[in-house]
Amino acid sequence: MPKPAPKTFAVKSFGCQMNVYDGERMAELMAAEGLSPADAADADLVVLNTCHIRERATEKVYSDIGRLRKHGDPMIAVAGCVAQAEGEEIFARAHVDVVVGPQAYHNLPRLVADAAAGRPALDTDMPVASKFGALPARRKVGPSAFLTVQEGCDKFCTYCVVPYTRGAEVSRAFAAIVDEAKALVDAGAKEITLLGQNVNAWADADGRGLDHLIRALDRIEGLARIRYTTSHPNDMTEGLIDAHAQVERLMPFLHLPVQSGSSRILKAMNRSHTRDSYLRVLDKVRAARPDIALSGDFIVGFPGETDADFEETLRLVDEVRYAQAFSFKYSPRPGTPAAEMADQIAPEVMDERLQRLQAAINRDQLAFNEASVGRHCPILIERKGKLPGQMLGKSPWLQSVHLITDARVGDMVEVTIESAGPNSVGGVERLRAAA
Ligand code: SAH
Ligand code: SF4
Ligand code: F3S
Repeated sequence: MPKPAPKTFAVKSFGCQMNVYDGERMAELMAAEGLSPADAADADLVVLNTCHIRERATEKVYSDIGRLRKHGDPMIAVAGCVAQAEGEEIFARAHVDVVVGPQAYHNLPRLVADAAAGRPALDTDMPVASKFGALPARRKVGPSAFLTVQEGCDKFCTYCVVPYTRGAEVSRAFAAIVDEAKALVDAGAKEITLLGQNVNAWADADGRGLDHLIRALDRIEGLARIRYTTSHPNDMTEGLIDAHAQVERLMPFLHLPVQSGSSRILKAMNRSHTRDSYLRVLDKVRAARPDIALSGDFIVGFPGETDADFEETLRLVDEVRYAQAFSFKYSPRPGTPAAEMADQIAPEVMDERLQRLQAAINRDQLAFNEASVGRHCPILIERKGKLPGQMLGKSPWLQSVHLITDARVGDMVEVTIESAGPNSVGGVERLRAAA
């Protein structure tokens, strides 16, 4: 049924940082089309930028559609990884107007026009030509900005949907990335986080890797901090590890998911690294940058995981002492090999393992924060805190820092860390860095 062309829009992102990046770019695209941003509750067009990684993430989109339909009749576009995975089925399951995959969202204006004219509006193509060239330039961003440099995944871990929803590994061109980084800095970014499902698999046409890109960004005036995420253990090259020793603006933080401490389970996951090869990579990284903060991802209850396998995961955590880490209960995903494996683990076993793992991670997180008390470091101020005069920012080690200051968003402030909690630290200002 035809609908009036939308005048206002809202984008809601549900997934990883790359999904958030895509959401920002879709918002910029709709604004460039002349639509004004609005709250999701009263926008004419609501873009639900979805995630398919675990069952619960996927279900969120359907409850959101129900909620939106109960209160009004906006045009609804389902974007992101659920759109890619479920495609046309979404029209059958819910009353939505547009379905657009993560490699096709540059076509959103055309799809919205089609939907307004009452024509079917679905695009889940994965074109070879990059969508990035078809997007408007970056204009207004916060002090910490994301920049997607690599998309897709060829690793095919047996539990994971990403190779299906995002397609094969593709690296964006060096020059396009450097241009976007400069545009982000001109638009106010002080920190850039390079993003990719396997960001450290980035390579240019001459086979140069992510370290080459990091060194190029290091020459951009006005950029204070460089980060990258998410990395695969097998793509931690010597060059990238060296960059951690040599590039001052590359922050001392590494998110390197391991998933399990048991080599037997890692093999069943098709991770292509072992417990030992992973720990050897961390040794090298720590030798290059002794103060580096480590982060990881874990899955508990992968099919066939025994108590002994799980104990190995706990022992790995004890050994590494992560500064922070994410842990998830295994969620069987349609179409992935692990969903068909025998020995699926009972939910109560998963619950118990997750609790024990999270207790160990929380213990180390608090210990890391406590060990940073007394440290002097620069904080990038990102937003206002809850208390009067309070601002929130990030330390080089990606800790959330709260402090009382008259500094503004985007300022760099030298602080001494003086208190620590499980999820954040408190700082006192020493002196303001010259702008
Ligand atoms: N490319 C990254 C991250 C992929 S998704 C990597 O290789 O690690 C982010 C995290 O979600 C993964 O690291 C994994 O811990 C978790 N995850 C992925 N699939 C999952 C599933 N089926 N069930 C539970 N957690 C999952
Ligand atoms: Fe998924 Fe594995 Fe690829 Fe990470 S490396 S995105 S977990 S398939
Ligand atoms: Fe989710 Fe897709 Fe990211 S499945 S984690 S939004 S790549």
